[in-house]
Amino acid sequence: MTQNKTIRSFVLRQGRVSNAQRRACGTLLPKHGIDFSEQLIDLEKIFGRRAPKILEIGFGMGETTATIAETHPENDYLAIEVHTPGVGSLLNQIETRELTNLRIIQHDAVEVLQHMLPTECLDGVHIFFPDPWPKAKHNKRRLIQPTLVAHLCQHLKQGGYIHTATDWEEYAEQMLEVLNSEPQLENTATDYAPRPDYRPLTKFEQRGLKLGHGVWDFVFVKK
Ligand SMILES: C[S@@+](CC[C@H](N)C(=O)[O-])C[C@H]1O[C@@H](n2cnc3c(N)ncnc32)[C@H](O)[C@@H]1O
Repeated sequence: MTQNKTIRSFVLRQGRVSNAQRRACGTLLPKHGIDFSEQLIDLEKIFGRRAPKILEIGFGMGETTATIAETHPENDYLAIEVHTPGVGSLLNQIETRELTNLRIIQHDAVEVLQHMLPTECLDGVHIFFPDPWPKAKHNKRRLIQPTLVAHLCQHLKQGGYIHTATDWEEYAEQMLEVLNSEPQLENTATDYAPRPDYRPLTKFEQRGLKLGHGVWDFVFVKK
């Protein structure tokens, strides 16, 4: 019997989940979350309005996500993460900051794109500091690959953007090559872009900066 060997961009670790995070997942996920299913979703119906829709993949502990949603009430944000402590943490931030423009899906974003999102439903995509998978034998786990970028383009409206950032130089080079090679995309900068004002420093980024890493942002738009 052949086994399905899907290469995933994450490893689910049994990290420590605090009581507050566990409680949030139990009580708040039904309120602010969307269950994974193999059915297309209607984002305008879910958010109850017509407004720009931004997807974020891999929000970590979610501080940046909550801050962006709070400072941009004019947009709606769909945030995806697999890691339970992060999901619990962002759910608590949604409640304390009283955010109405942010929903969470706890699932592999690759499958969410494949099954749940209609074509041309997004105005933007944020992928901040995706796992760098620095060892050569793990490079295939990196999120930013030609197939994923082509997939994202299908879900982006014309003029919509993909914003990625990394503190791993060799991954930055790969991101630039992959994004440049996608014929539907156009770089907004010559190579890497200045950090847009809406993106605060992320937790992962601050750790990298302390270690002396550089930071590279890329903002490409769909032609
Ligand atoms: C290095 S962390 C960065 C977190 C955050 N963006 C930051 O900058 O602090 C990458 C995150 O992406 C999540 N992730 C990786 N692959 C994913 C996938 N396919 N679907 C959803 N989340 C994913 C991981 O669980 C992890 O929390």
